This record gives sequence, structure tokens and C-alpha cells, in this order.
Amino acid sequence: MIPIDETLLADFEDRLDPAYPEKSGIKPIILGYGEISSSFCIAEMPDVAFKRMPPFPNRDAAEEYRRIVGNYCRHLEEDCGIRVLEHRTHRLENRFGEHIVYVAQPRLERDSIGNIRLKQHGARYITEMVSIVADRILAVGRKNRDGSNLSIGIDGQISNWCFTDTGLPLDDPLYFDVTTPLFRVNGTEQLDVRVFLKSIPPGLVWLVKWQFLHEILDRYYDTRQVLIDLAANFHKEGRQDMIDAAIAVINEKVENFALTPPVAPTVGPPVDPLTRSEVDGYYKSDAFMWALLLRLRRADRFICTRLRRRRYNFILPGKIKR
Ligand SMILES: Nc1ncnc2c1ncn2[C@@H]1O[C@H](COP(=O)(O)OP(=O)(O)OP(=O)(O)O)[C@@H](O)[C@H]1O
Ligand SMILES: [Mg+2]
Repeated sequence: MIPIDETLLADFEDRLDPAYPEKSGIKPIILGYGEISSSFCIAEMPDVAFKRMPPFPNRDAAEEYRRIVGNYCRHLEEDCGIRVLEHRTHRLENRFGEHIVYVAQPRLERDSIGNIRLKQHGARYITEMVSIVADRILAVGRKNRDGSNLSIGIDGQISNWCFTDTGLPLDDPLYFDVTTPLFRVNGTEQLDVRVFLKSIPPGLVWLVKWQFLHEILDRYYDTRQVLIDLAANFHKEGRQDMIDAAIAVINEKVENFALTPPVAPTVGPPVDPLTRSEVDGYYKSDAFMWALLLRLRRADRFICTRLRRRRYNFILPGKIKR
């Protein structure tokens, strides 16, 4: 089990300034930024990576979230055959009486994380990475077409996978982005996404709800969109030179996938091949959406902390190069 010093974590939480983590009593060491929040570790627990979830309205909601994360990991492993990094969740009530959940994982070597490998390796290694990740995304797609009442969402970006090999051939990669556990039973989202909407400025919640939320969530269930996202993110990681090769690998898989006989008669449409222009177009609008959202959240943080002198409760990602 992942060792957590619970007293230290409680102390960390009570002295944390989520708006300006660098001003906290115990300073977090940032390991990486996602679109929604940051992963970090604490100097006295250097082998554990943490993510702090936005506060839950009550204890039950926090417990429910912990359960959903556990179920999500199980579905990925058992229903899709994906190796998932182990995690442990810890719930606490801080000095403000807020219900906070920390998600802990073993701290991964920086060099083992997909987007770092992408920068360090050549074409042969990178096409193998794309191939092995695309296989796993398609395994989720296959699960979602098996006619059962369960569908699973995944964020297949290369920055969500850990590669433990020392070169080719690749080991089975580990998926570690488990804090947005998306799965639907009979079409109903199991995660209460309202908790995540709380980090959106109040005046904008309606906009995100009606304009973005649908689009943001649905695409994690759409095999083709997840594959486009995988290739499109090579822009963000500075490997535009490998996008055509990535698309070629993905399209070969997609062709075979389309030919795979259905497990159940209620099969969705086969996945159409990807084109470079839609991958580029997707990246432009995706990068725009996330950058806009982050700017608005930063503005909200400023208004909240500097003008209204109130507590701001989310650790936002820092500057993201796109
Ligand atoms: N266990 C870990 N060990 C080391 N670094 C990590 C670990 N987990 C996350 N990171 C770093 O933080 C980055 C963001 O983490 P992760 O993908 O889990 O969150 P995210 O993209 O913000 O997820 P979401 O947007 O779904 O909340 C990773 O790409 C990686 O660089
Ligand atoms: Mg991520």
C-alpha cells in the first residue's frame, strides 16, 4: 500500500494556500500540470505523488468520489485490460470544515512519463508508443460496443501513460490519469461533475454547462475523438514532426478495428480513418478552449483573493506551453 503520513498531510492541508501554493506553510513540489489541476509531492514524502480534489459539499459526496475512482480503475483493468497505476485516496476535514480528498500514487520517474519520452526518443520508439496506446484506446472502444449497459471514458493523451521499459520492445504502459473517473451506466454519468464545475467562475458555469461540458465529456467516450486527441497533442508536446507518422499508425489500427467482428449485435459505427487537417483543426479549437478556461479561472482567482479577499480553493495549473 502507498505509505501516507496522515498527520503530515493534514498539516499540509491546513497550511496550504491553494490560490498561491508557493506561499503555503509546507510548499508543494509541482510534478506536472494537467488541464484541470496540478500534481505535486511533499518534501517529507518524496515518493508519493498527490492530487488535491476541489472540496466536496459533504462527507458522503467525498466518499462517493473515492468509490467512483476505485470502480473506474477496476473497469479499465478488468473490462479493458489496461494496466492502471495503483492509487490510494485519503479524505480529511480541514480547519475550515471542508471535505477534501487527496489522491495519492507512487511518484513516477519524470523520464518514464509519455510526453517526456516523446521528446527524448526517435521515430521508431514513438510509433511503437502510439501503437501500444492506440491499442488500449481501441480496447475501451471495443468494451463500449459490447452491448452492455456500461461505457467507459478515457483521456488517452500520451502524458497520461507511464512507460517502464528501457527501450524497445515496450512494456505494457501504465495509465495514471484517474482523477476524472468517467464511466456511464445506462447512459448516466457516475461521477458527480458538479464538484468539478465548482472551480469554474460562477458567472461562467452556465456557459461551460451548455457550451463545453457536453462536448468535453462526450469526447472521452468517442473512440475516434480520443485517437484524434492523442495525435493532436503532439502539437502541445512539440513533436509536430511525428504527427503524420502517428496518424498512419492509428489509421492502420482503425482499419483492423473496423474489421473486428462485433462482440454483440449492437455495434456502433466503425471508426473512420483520421486526417491531418482535422487533427490540426481539433488541436486549435481544443487548445483555445482550455487556454480560455484557464485564463477565466485565473481572473476569478484574482477577483476572489485580491479584490474580495476571500479564500480561493483550487490549485490551478501554472503556465502551460501550447
Ligand atoms: N504519479 C505521478 N508521478 C509523477 N508525476 C505525475 C504523477 N501523476 C501525474 N504526474 C504529472 O502531472 C501531470 C498531470 O497529471 P494527470 O494527467 O494525472 O492530471 P490531469 O491531466 O490534470 O488530469 P485531469 O485533467 O483529468 O484532472 C502528468 O502528465 C505528470 O507530468
Ligand atoms: Mg493528464
